[in-house]
Amino acid sequence: METKTRVPVVWLQFQDCTGCSESFIRSSQPKTESVLLEMISLEYSEVLSAPSGHQAEASMEQVLKDYKGKYILAVEGSIPKDDAYLMVGGKSARETFIKMADNAQAVVAYGSCSAWGGIAGASPNPTGAKPVTSFVSNTPVILVPGCPPIAEVMTGVIAHIITFGKLPELDHLGRPKAFYRHRIHDKCNRRAYFDAGLFVESFDDEGAKQGYCLYKVGCKGPTTYNSCAEMRWNGGVSYPIQSGNPCIGCSEKDFWDNGPFFTR
Ligand code: SF4
Ligand code: SF4
Ligand code: F3S
Repeated sequence: METKTRVPVVWLQFQDCTGCSESFIRSSQPKTESVLLEMISLEYSEVLSAPSGHQAEASMEQVLKDYKGKYILAVEGSIPKDDAYLMVGGKSARETFIKMADNAQAVVAYGSCSAWGGIAGASPNPTGAKPVTSFVSNTPVILVPGCPPIAEVMTGVIAHIITFGKLPELDHLGRPKAFYRHRIHDKCNRRAYFDAGLFVESFDDEGAKQGYCLYKVGCKGPTTYNSCAEMRWNGGVSYPIQSGNPCIGCSEKDFWDNGPFFTR
C-alpha cells in the first residue's frame, strides 16, 4: 500500500469500559502497530498517549490549532445528557465532544456505546446516556457498532479513509456497508443446520455437541448486522457462534435491553 501522510487522530473516551480500545490494539490486518506508526498520528488517547494530565490536555488543544478540519475524532463511550456525570480535565464530556467534533474532518463512533448509547444507556439509563450523533452538527459520523467492534473492522475504517482519501460508503444508519451489510445469519457456519431444522434445545444436549443451530437458545444472528461470521475474531480464528455461544446482537441498537441473551 502506498504510504501517505499520517492523519492526526484524537481518541476520546466517555461512558465506556475501554473494551473498544482493547479490541483496536489487537488488529492483525492491518496490524495495529502499522496503523499507529505508519497511517495515523495519535495525538490524544487516554489508553495509549505517553502524556497525562495537563500535558495530555495541552496535546488536544494543539490539535485544534494545527489540524483544524483535518483530524479524525474517534470516540468510545456514550455521552451523558447531564454534564455532572462525566467531567474530564474540568470540562464536561458533552462540551469536549462538541468542540472536538465541530473541528474534525469526521467522527468515528467506535462501539455500541458511542453508536447507540450502549450499556450506560440501558434501562433505566440513570445518566441520560446518548449516542454521539445526538451532539453532532455538521461533521460526518461513521458508526462502527459492536461491543466491542472487531479489531480489523476498527482499523479497516481508518485504513479506508487514509487509502482512498474519503469516507467509506455508509448504510442508512451510518455504518460502513463493507462491514455491516450482512446479517450474522446470512454467513453463519451453522446455517445449514438452521435450514435443515436441526437445533440446539439446551446447552448440554446432543445437538450442542453436534454443532447445530443456536436459534432456540436465543441466537440473535437473524437480526444482527456485523462481520463476525465472515471476518471472525482474533485474526480470523473464531466468533461466538463458532465457539458454541449464541450471538447476543452486540452490534445492534439497545441490545442490552433486548434480552434475555439466552433462553435456556
Ligand atoms: Fe465497552 Fe462495549 Fe461500550 Fe466498547 S461498546 S466501551 S466494549 S461496553
Ligand atoms: Fe442463524 Fe444463529 Fe442459527 Fe447461525 S446459529 S444459523 S446465526 S440462528
Ligand atoms: Fe457480537 Fe454477535 Fe458478533 S454477539 S461479537 S455481533 S456474533
